[in-house]
Amino acid sequence: MKSNFLWGGALAAHQVEGAYDKDGKGLSIADVMTAGTKDQARKITDGIKKGVYYPNHQAINFYTNYKEDIDRFADLGLKSLRVSIAWTRIFPTGEEQSPNDKGLEFYHQLFSYMRKKNIEPMVTLSHFEMPYYLVKKYGGWRSRKMIDYFVKFSKVCLDEFSDEVKYWLTFNEINNQSLTENPLFAFTNSGIIFKEGEDRDEVFYQAAMYEFVAGAKVVQYAHSLQKSLKVGCVVAASPYYPNTPNPQDILKAQRMNELQYFYSDVQARGYVPELIKKIWERNNYKLDITSKDLDGIKKGTVDYLGITYYLTSTVSADQTIQKVGSGNAAGNDTVENPYLKRSQWGWTIDPAGLRYYLNEIYHRYHLPIFIVENGLGAIDKIEKDEKIHDDYRISYLRDHILEMKKATEEDGVDVIGYDVWSPIDLVSFTTGEMKKRYGLIYVDYDNEGKGSGERINKDSFAWYKKVIETNGEKLE
Ligand code: BG6
Repeated sequence: MKSNFLWGGALAAHQVEGAYDKDGKGLSIADVMTAGTKDQARKITDGIKKGVYYPNHQAINFYTNYKEDIDRFADLGLKSLRVSIAWTRIFPTGEEQSPNDKGLEFYHQLFSYMRKKNIEPMVTLSHFEMPYYLVKKYGGWRSRKMIDYFVKFSKVCLDEFSDEVKYWLTFNEINNQSLTENPLFAFTNSGIIFKEGEDRDEVFYQAAMYEFVAGAKVVQYAHSLQKSLKVGCVVAASPYYPNTPNPQDILKAQRMNELQYFYSDVQARGYVPELIKKIWERNNYKLDITSKDLDGIKKGTVDYLGITYYLTSTVSADQTIQKVGSGNAAGNDTVENPYLKRSQWGWTIDPAGLRYYLNEIYHRYHLPIFIVENGLGAIDKIEKDEKIHDDYRISYLRDHILEMKKATEEDGVDVIGYDVWSPIDLVSFTTGEMKKRYGLIYVDYDNEGKGSGERINKDSFAWYKKVIETNGEKLE
């Protein structure tokens, strides 16, 4: 890998910070989500209900523990750390005229501590968080008003932190919301709660268009501040394979992939693909999009692509084949792929799919790619020797890194960084569980938030440390 390759790790504010109501923070959408399991979806409650457990309220207490955690990340050798800024720490309801000083102070301290430890910060502006107040008042990104609120928040972040942070990302996994059978995604991406009988596709297309307009304004503003700032988008890279060589299967997989590329196409190329326009026309969708919006989208294309990679899905045109889904992170209309194993949470494990996807998008856009998440959610056990021997995680990460290396070194794809999700255990996004552990560092909390909170390095910690030290040469 190139000598300036950014070996890193990624986190999101709501999954680690806790302190959900400290120092003037407002209620975020993540604060009204209950705990679920693999088979039982998280519930979204109407405000905070007494006696209900909300895992993100405490998370792993990164808000108070961040120095100790960053010290460990520095020991791990991370060159880069992706975090997100909780919008509600800066603007508690979203409507305030001026930002909350305590919120700004926290992130200044966090970034300067990271810099002190030689860790390059990367910041996601919207990682499944927004003020709950804006959801109640305007229905989230159903409303055009969100563009101004988001841009106001983003400008404050850029004004405050652009000397400390060079790499920015707009909306995390913006394409998740197209999986409308799981209402969690519309809520976490866009603060949208579907109404009975409405056309869910029309709703998410509108929300996405407002988000693209807002994101493009942020890109333009960042470039006007400092030419050296890099702003990217984030898409969940979950490619679809055809089940057989039957041309009908091929066509179906192609269509599913194109529907996902919509998100990166608009943000990387600056225009809405013809196929999507045809879908809008056919369904008679009346979207609120002005020529000024389209012009802004064209002028505010991203500098690089952030991709998160966990799984692939397989689709069949034959409706008689049994559907299996790909865990609750992919659509239900997918079938078993006999060549792939699954994680304990039912997510397919497909390292070669990463190489496939990297080639697809690099040759589509010719933009640098940052893998901003990749990792394995698994149950970890503290053994008799007080250690966590997570060889399954090591082998998952090794196999994916090997495929990333092939994509860069053999295929010429420009990958500029790789973030493991995650350097530390955190609250799972889709299930709200702690026991679905991703970390290279164990955190002693259980699914009810009970435990000492103590941190213990797992075997994967020493392994990844070596990978970084040898710039990806030593993977054994
Ligand atoms: C991505 C998200 O979807 O996958 C993260 O950006 C999330 O926030 C990660 O945690 C893994 O998903 P989960 O549901 O297993 O935590």
